[in-house]
Amino acid sequence: MTTHVLAFKPAIGLYGQHDPSAALFENGDLVFGIEEERLSRTKHATNTFPERAIRACLDHRRLELGDLDRIVLPYDPRLRAEILPHYLRDALRQPGALSKLSALERTAVTQLQARFRPASEIKSRLAEIGTPVPPIETRPHHACHAASAFHPSGFDEAIVLTVDAKGEYDSTVVWYGDGDGLRRIRTYEHPNSLGLFFAAVTEYLGYRMFNGEGKVMGLAPYGRENPEIERTLRRLVTTGVDYDVTDLTEGWGTGRGVRRLERALGRPRNDAPGEFDQWQKDLAYVAQKLLEETVVDVAETYAGRLGVGNVALAGGVALNCKMNARVRESPVVDQVFVQPVAHDAGLALGAGWLDRRPADVPEMETVSLGPEFAVEEIRRLLETNKIPYGEPGDVARYAAERLAEGALVGWFQGRLEMGPRALGNRSILADPRSVDSRDRVNRFVKHREEWRPFAPSMLESAAEEYLEGAVPSPYMIDAFRARDDRKDDVAAVLHPADDTTRPQTVRADQNPRYHRLISEFERITGVPVVLNTSFNDHAEPIVATPTEALKDFYGMGLDVLVLEDLVIEKAATAREPTPDAKRAALPEN
Ligand SMILES: [Fe+2]
Repeated sequence: MTTHVLAFKPAIGLYGQHDPSAALFENGDLVFGIEEERLSRTKHATNTFPERAIRACLDHRRLELGDLDRIVLPYDPRLRAEILPHYLRDALRQPGALSKLSALERTAVTQLQARFRPASEIKSRLAEIGTPVPPIETRPHHACHAASAFHPSGFDEAIVLTVDAKGEYDSTVVWYGDGDGLRRIRTYEHPNSLGLFFAAVTEYLGYRMFNGEGKVMGLAPYGRENPEIERTLRRLVTTGVDYDVTDLTEGWGTGRGVRRLERALGRPRNDAPGEFDQWQKDLAYVAQKLLEETVVDVAETYAGRLGVGNVALAGGVALNCKMNARVRESPVVDQVFVQPVAHDAGLALGAGWLDRRPADVPEMETVSLGPEFAVEEIRRLLETNKIPYGEPGDVARYAAERLAEGALVGWFQGRLEMGPRALGNRSILADPRSVDSRDRVNRFVKHREEWRPFAPSMLESAAEEYLEGAVPSPYMIDAFRARDDRKDDVAAVLHPADDTTRPQTVRADQNPRYHRLISEFERITGVPVVLNTSFNDHAEPIVATPTEALKDFYGMGLDVLVLEDLVIEKAATAREPTPDAKRAALPEN
């Protein structure tokens, strides 16, 4: 009999306020996963119950909610109750406590109880989707992060680091994983949180926490060693395996941390995010350095103590690809696996895997877990909207030719990716060979800070030729230095300040059509690399549907849009269609 388990990360109440998602498991295997933001169309979908994501999971297998065998939530309310204020917890434990209170107090307590008993709210939200609501089970937040990294890593044993802002009251947890599952080795409790440390710096530099951290990482290489900043920060925080950052992370949110930084550094927070002077760049550099040295020391210490060379990483901080590279480069670390959906959206994956024997979970091969759209459906959409299109027969080759001619190409294929990176299914592609191409993507398409780097997709077979210390890296979650003799080929996808790059390596078995596109681009240009940035406008989630792709295509300076087998060109930049395309563009009878 087929079993179906739904795991989802709500983002309401105390379940965490950002990045809700849902995933469906059939007979234990992950068959579908999507972030709510891709459907609600608001980035990070803060304070949102992932109703659309849940419905998408059910639709994928034509299920009703009542058909599910159970539901798993990546959050343990019993753990959360531990952080209720002591007096309140004690008061509520007294027999008959509630009846002794005044009506007003009773209302207050009932409201509080509702807050701290989130399962009932979840249940009523689920009942709106369907009844009966299947049994709901809960699992600790960091255990779910850990399973999301270890179970699909392919490792027999590993040190697992889960590093985030906080989940329940954990901020960083060191785990040992083997065939029997996961064992907790060390816990760094909230507020001793590396995620909040980096969030405080992010807010100080003018961005929003849980949003601008990647930009701070991207800014860091523009900075330099700055002994004065470093001395000041080291007075505030202790780095390394016994790290202590609480001086900056106590209190709610990052307000206190920002004020501490303002006082200690003697400068107010940046109120013009995106523009930085050298001092601010240096601060980003130092913050990144302290984060890296801490996580590397934690990894090395426990890898050494337990005699384990493999490291698996998850939690929002593991989206920091520079930090991941430092861990991989450590002489005591053999192999690293980073869960590509490292942030909280990936909790739904871990919640579904946690109860399985790690060896029974297949090695992660893709994050393309979302919806896909049939070519006939897209054809109808185009014809209804009177949008002329071609059908070149070999769209990979067609797109490669247009890229080589300098076109900016929207590339929409197959299933939507889960996680922050587009990996060749909802991507905007460009020629990687000149910085001019990068500037055009910025000017016409992405409308984002000029100094931020773009990333490449490259044939896995060419990775060694282009990257120092290359290893297969299919998820854009690790960073490498480009080889000196290849830098000129890929100028648009190097970090301008340090010549590093955050690649996606591609094999034919992982994504045949995308592999073919890059191979064709190599045939024409000699370079087996394309610039790949996510298909979305500034501050918008990655597009999910052909309609959204079309809207962005016409709202942005893209030249070509490839929707599955069909190609749309903008008149101003269109080239003479190939005979193939012309033939195919003739109306069918
Ligand atoms: Fe988390």
